[in-house]
Amino acid sequence: MKKITKIISIINQKGGVGKTTTSINLPAALSMFNKKMLLIDFDPQGNLSTGIGVNEQDQENTIYSILTSANEDINNVIKKTLVPNIEIIAANQDLAVFDIEVVNIKDKEYLLHTKLKEIQGKYDYVFIDCAPSLSQLTINALTASDAVLIPLQCEFFALEGVANILKIIDSVKANLNPNLSIEGILLTMYDRRNRLCKEIVEDVRKNFGAIVYDQVIPRNIKLSEASSYGKPVILYDSNCSGSIAYMLLAQEMLAKQVYIQ
Ligand SMILES: Nc1ncnc2c1ncn2[C@@H]1O[C@H](COP(=O)(O)OP(=O)(O)OP(=O)(O)O)[C@@H](O)[C@H]1O
Ligand SMILES: [Mg+2]
Repeated sequence: MKKITKIISIINQKGGVGKTTTSINLPAALSMFNKKMLLIDFDPQGNLSTGIGVNEQDQENTIYSILTSANEDINNVIKKTLVPNIEIIAANQDLAVFDIEVVNIKDKEYLLHTKLKEIQGKYDYVFIDCAPSLSQLTINALTASDAVLIPLQCEFFALEGVANILKIIDSVKANLNPNLSIEGILLTMYDRRNRLCKEIVEDVRKNFGAIVYDQVIPRNIKLSEASSYGKPVILYDSNCSGSIAYMLLAQEMLAKQVYIQ
């Protein structure tokens, strides 16, 4: 049966806020609900690729190859992962020159969008793990997406920068992709013993209301450990607080989807 594929970009121009960790572990949790996913590593750092166990030899046919050659079939660069329901298009540092190389290309903002049309209906979700910048790469991701998920780290400067992200989203909506919506804001690296953390959560909820997920992701070392072994956390320690939080987040996301329909 043909599926309706929802494309979600995971963005925040701030570094180290949990974009890649969420790009691995939210889909891994959704796979437990029988959803089929494609992950796209859209960051020259290639952290998503290594974090889900794609080794370097396998990193030859990457997202860069299909973005820069109109004739290459997207299916040729899709790889399997150790999670049966999750496939990936990897990235490596080749992608770093994308912004410069496409400067003079007409409709450069639509390069990813055009390629993703070829896989429409094959997956329930496509997740795009963006780089920590608001570059042409990120614009391509937003132009190709139905929605954005914004991870925010529970720290003092959490809200700094969100206004910029929202401005970019509005501009993409007005000029390139009128269908773009906000999937949700996700608070990450939450420490319940830290009073400041609690205040930040309250502050973010006060500012953004219902688009903030009820579920927060706790600070949990198992999440880092799992990535360093190239595994989603549910395959590394299924009972740790990180695994449970991403499972509950998946549940919340699916419940919201039903509610919206
Ligand atoms: N909830 C968490 N608890 C503990 N460590 C975490 C958590 N989330 C992420 N980390 C760790 O924090 C670091 C940054 O996380 P991650 O790579 O997911 O962020 P990012 O936003 O993708 O970074 P970048 O902007 O560089 O792409 C990583 O070492 C990761 O393992
Ligand atoms: Mg990352």
